[in-house]
Amino acid sequence: MSDLLWTLPELLKITGGRLIGSWFLGVNGVSIDTRTLKYGDLYFAVRGDSLDGHDFIAKAVARGAAASCVSEEKIDSLIGERGNFIVVQDVSQALEELGKISRARMVGKIIAVTGSVGKTTTKEALKAAFSPNGPTHSSVESYNNHWGVLLTLARMPRDTKYGIFEIGMNGPGEIGELVKRVQPHLAIITNVEAAHLGAFESIDDISFAKAEIFDGLISGGTVLLNRDDERFSMLSEIARSRGIENIVTFGESEKSDSRAIQIVLQEEYSYLTASILGEKIALKVGSPGRHFIQNILAVLATVKFLGADLSQATLALSHFTALKGRGKRYPIDYKDKSFILIDESYNANPASMQSALKLLGLLKPKNSGRRIAILGDMLELGPHSSQFHADLAVSVQENLIDKVFLVGSKMRVLRDSLQGKISCKHVEKIECVITLVRVEIHSDDVLMVKASLGMRFSLLVDALLYNHQEANNDE
Ligand SMILES: Nc1ncnc2c1ncn2[C@@H]1O[C@H](COP(=O)(O)OP(=O)(O)OP(=O)(O)O)[C@@H](O)[C@H]1O
Ligand SMILES: [Mg+2]
Repeated sequence: MSDLLWTLPELLKITGGRLIGSWFLGVNGVSIDTRTLKYGDLYFAVRGDSLDGHDFIAKAVARGAAASCVSEEKIDSLIGERGNFIVVQDVSQALEELGKISRARMVGKIIAVTGSVGKTTTKEALKAAFSPNGPTHSSVESYNNHWGVLLTLARMPRDTKYGIFEIGMNGPGEIGELVKRVQPHLAIITNVEAAHLGAFESIDDISFAKAEIFDGLISGGTVLLNRDDERFSMLSEIARSRGIENIVTFGESEKSDSRAIQIVLQEEYSYLTASILGEKIALKVGSPGRHFIQNILAVLATVKFLGADLSQATLALSHFTALKGRGKRYPIDYKDKSFILIDESYNANPASMQSALKLLGLLKPKNSGRRIAILGDMLELGPHSSQFHADLAVSVQENLIDKVFLVGSKMRVLRDSLQGKISCKHVEKIECVITLVRVEIHSDDVLMVKASLGMRFSLLVDALLYNHQEANNDE
């Protein structure tokens, strides 16, 4: 058996392509984006909504692509380009075929993760927990759409023992299409919340869309459901109606198969005593927050259910820290001030806003430091968007936030709800808040920043981190 991800004869056979250029042994990676392509990858020149990958062949070659998979239709226009070509009728279809064969040759276990919040975090925690148990392959970042799933399949090494796939959606039908390709042994729905609600009439409709993940389960496969979720009964009924017999549950509920017995929340981590499918364990959880315990209970249930080593997994999870943009912390020294930044800038919806505010509430600032929340619009929430924004006022108060900066037009309603209760400033654009924060921050403050991706809150994080370096350089 070859050590290569794909040998050239395999590639030619699977894609039905012909080689133009020189013979090479094969590739160890697959890419559709020249910005992230690695040396020796096979570049698929796919056509997206606005760009055509065939226009980037020179870039792929410059970055060291072993070959480019291009369409017959375009090959004449590529004469003169350097590099090797695998010429096929349809580039997307060729990638699709590679994914199909990859799934078919995989002899390990496949896990699919969907849900409204916590997919990437759960996927990364699964990766950490399974890695000591054998070769583990997983989606990179939030590669959970059509291209992300195809790439994750095509990139799966042949000796993979555990394959972990994040599956997302923007509307009905998408998860069903993707999961049929992935064919998981075990499918997880982390939760069902108001996220991407714009594309749906109700949260119940989101449940139906999440339940599409049952459609691709292998025969005799298992679903892992959140027992604490409001729509647990609904989801388990849908699962049963589709003939799925194995339903495993996780959560704080005593009825869960993987359940928390005791949770001790600390500022930087948690202690968890849990019963995991009948096995009692105690562990330190490296990333703080009650919401994170939910993810961990799902991970531990998966480890135990698939027969991997629970003690190795718990050890790995004790070192697991929050991901960039999803709770990662930075101590910052800016001029004569030292403060803590909690970076939740990756995305936001009502559920993740709540968990991030709780996380901030857990922290006890030193001396006269304050809890400061910098919150931006939550997008794609449909007709009830204003209510969701206004409702955050309760969470802000319950978690004893001292000061709030709000950014964006949708956050005006929260400003109105907080008026007279908490010190609150509202601006329309992220650029305006950057200056404001720099001026208003004190030593020992703890800042949490969170907004939907479209609000570009990473600019604020970068500005604070950059100033940090600038301050150090000045010394
Ligand atoms: N189980 C959970 N319950 C509630 N909130 C959570 C949970 N897990 C993570 N979060 C919050 O949700 C945010 C996003 O987490 P993550 O990126 O893992 O979600 P995702 O489902 O992958 O999102 P996306 O749909 O954007 O890919 C985190 O920053 C954290 O605030
Ligand atoms: Mg994600």
